[in-house]
Amino acid sequence: MDRPRITIFDTTLRDGEQSPGCSMNVQEKLRLAQQLDRLGVDVIEAGFPIASDGDFEAVQRISASVRRPIIAGLARACKGDIDRAWEALKDAARPRIHVFLATSDIHLKYKLRITREQCLEQAREAVRHAAALCSDVEFSPEDATRTDVPFLCQVAEAVIAAGATTVNIPDTVGYTMPEEYGQLIRTLLEKVAGIEKVTISTHCHNDLGLAVANSLAGVQEGARQVECTINGIGERAGNASLEEIVMAMRVRRDRYPYEAGIASEHIFASSQMLAEITRVPVQPNKAITGRNAFAHEAGIHQDGVLKNPLTYEIMTPQSVGVPDSRLVLGKHSGRHALALRCEQLGYPFERRELDEVYRRFVVLADRIKKVQDSHLLELIEEVKAAGGKKIPPAGATIPFARVASATAGAGEVRPLPFPAAVSGAPGSISFSDHHSDQEDYLWGV
Ligand code: KIV
Ligand code: ZN
Repeated sequence: MDRPRITIFDTTLRDGEQSPGCSMNVQEKLRLAQQLDRLGVDVIEAGFPIASDGDFEAVQRISASVRRPIIAGLARACKGDIDRAWEALKDAARPRIHVFLATSDIHLKYKLRITREQCLEQAREAVRHAAALCSDVEFSPEDATRTDVPFLCQVAEAVIAAGATTVNIPDTVGYTMPEEYGQLIRTLLEKVAGIEKVTISTHCHNDLGLAVANSLAGVQEGARQVECTINGIGERAGNASLEEIVMAMRVRRDRYPYEAGIASEHIFASSQMLAEITRVPVQPNKAITGRNAFAHEAGIHQDGVLKNPLTYEIMTPQSVGVPDSRLVLGKHSGRHALALRCEQLGYPFERRELDEVYRRFVVLADRIKKVQDSHLLELIEEVKAAGGKKIPPAGATIPFARVASATAGAGEVRPLPFPAAVSGAPGSISFSDHHSDQEDYLWGV
């Protein structure tokens, strides 16, 4: 049976980045966008170009270099914003302009000070303008879940007629309930002329802890795009978490018979990379990506898991890329440990390529205490891009513009010097030492 395909729209770099303490610079956004590409998201919302020159540049650079997914840029429903978004997006292989305008009476009266008629006209005009620039236009009626439903239908109909190709239904303040949100999506499908031509999208915030449940309820009623973020970061209590939505659909296929194009084995590395960049740690009991998500401490549980993991695990750690906790990749790790981890991440290397990954790994491991999956994935990408040929080691070229020292205080940024092993700095572990057979074992098992 063909399962409906759900478009995964990742807004970690826009809505996620707006949350306190999660702002990212251009380089960091670019690095995360490359990881989101590896993860297989369909749409990357790269930023809000009118908001700052940094956001503009990030959207522009991501558009130029991340070519597979759709790249979206946010704009308020006015010409200046839309033109600026288009300027940043126009070199993308698949650009999308995302226009938003609040539609709830409370926002119209107190924030925008406009009437419903003015709102309708502004939305229509903005989408018409965006559609003249770009064939892919998303419209979001902000605070949709607190908007008068007949008016919401009227706005949706107007923007579809004006050229919107996706209509997003934001639960901006995390107020709705699953059944209610599902009903809203069903009403739109029943009442809005032309709705069958466009994609309906969910965008749920987590103020009542229901963002994922609401998103799934929307999907069950016909939404075919889900907006979400890695680790669920976002305004206030956050957005719907990408990993929770994807794995709920995978683990409970019986209830949610939908497909997403996510390479779930890259979930953990993506989560780690985000935490490393923002310095916002993942809460230990966070579903899927928290450090305790696959830990079993109670004796009865441990006994059960040892006998058969199915007793207490509904998915395997490997399916989301959680490493074998006994295996720590550091400067003492050998080739076998590295090869095994690469394989777990979906990259079984033959000898020559592994040599090159290992060469670069050793140099990097000398710099940082623990080599995370996100680092490894970047190394792998570089080696693949170079076709396995010898290339300058990590740290000498890029990709780790800053690395948190294990001993550094929170928020401290240490620029990476040229690799000590390459420059021959005292105390460094030489390349040849690492190639001894003796070190070819699984450290820490
Ligand atoms: O939560 C919200 O309403 C938004 C819109 C801009 C889509 O983030
Ligand atoms: Zn939002």
